[in-house]
Amino acid sequence: MQEKLNRIFCVAPMMGYTTPYARKLYRILSKKSFLFTEMIASKSMLYSKNKDLIIENDQHNPVALQVGGSDVEDLKRCSVIAYKYNYDEINLNVGCPSKAVQKGSFGACLMRDKILVRQLLESLQHEKLEISLKCRIGLGKNLDYDFFEEFIDEILKSGVKIIYIHARNALLTGGISPSQNRTIPPLDYNFVKKIKLKYPNITFVLNGGIDSMKKASELIKHFDGVMLGRLIQNNPFLLREVDNIFFDSSKTIEVSEDIILDYFNYIKNKIDNESIFRLLSPMLQMFFGIPNSKVIKSQIHEYMRNKKLTRIEDIFIKFVRENKVIFN
Ligand SMILES: Cc1cc2nc3c(=O)[nH]c(=O)nc-3n(C[C@H](O)[C@H](O)[C@H](O)COP(=O)(O)O)c2cc1C
Repeated sequence: MQEKLNRIFCVAPMMGYTTPYARKLYRILSKKSFLFTEMIASKSMLYSKNKDLIIENDQHNPVALQVGGSDVEDLKRCSVIAYKYNYDEINLNVGCPSKAVQKGSFGACLMRDKILVRQLLESLQHEKLEISLKCRIGLGKNLDYDFFEEFIDEILKSGVKIIYIHARNALLTGGISPSQNRTIPPLDYNFVKKIKLKYPNITFVLNGGIDSMKKASELIKHFDGVMLGRLIQNNPFLLREVDNIFFDSSKTIEVSEDIILDYFNYIKNKIDNESIFRLLSPMLQMFFGIPNSKVIKSQIHEYMRNKKLTRIEDIFIKFVRENKVIFN
């Protein structure tokens, strides 16, 4: 088993966002945050032609690989892959409410079958990897603590020690989209507080609705860890404060040319095999909330169409030089 890793500040798994490229940027900005891949369906992990590109870790540790699936044999093989690609942890997704995922019988709908979830977690066991679960607090409109507690009671029999909890129910019927499923069901952090009292030796990381660093640093006083999704998706540069606020680093990372150079050096080698949008979208979030950045963004998009990476790098360098004050 690996040395004990710190999960007090985690960046949530996000499909389409927490790509290897985003994780590169996150890692430049914070050495200590615990990162996640996007959810990768077990079948893609096992059979996709592009699997190297999808599963890549690139030494962005500490990082967990999140898998979606409900087949015991498939998941066993996914754990072996996670180890081979040098992940620290394999995480089972039991929180995704999307229709496609329900059709594949995985994600949040698995909360209906706690015994199966326990078996799936058992199948993920691997002596060199931590296993973990990400789930909701329940299903449907009604909040039901007993349902949640019974679910946790059962799945803990697998030996899992780390649980990330998106502290709202999943609504699986009534045509509610995944994005509405992140806003409509009410949050209830008390479920996480209460289950922690019952299981003090299990790590419960709180997720859902943490929309500022200030809130995160308050919540960490009451929970084992916090996991942030959309705040970091929109504004990854907030991560430059994390090692200072949550860990023992004495300084905040400065947004400088070095960050741009490091990032572009990384993505340059990938341009032949990956979409330029996936490569650049994490960095484009630099303009989040920056007034009058429309012109510069449309210039970048023009260069993206022609894959002019060096030109785009120059724009970012110039922008950072001229706007240091805004960032630092
Ligand atoms: C675009 C997007 C994609 C997501 N993809 C995943 C995913 O692949 N796996 C997962 O467990 N959760 C996924 N989530 C949910 C987040 O991990 C997180 O639980 C949710 O956004 C609540 O946290 P937040 O309020 O900090 O954003 C996704 C969320 C967003 C916004």
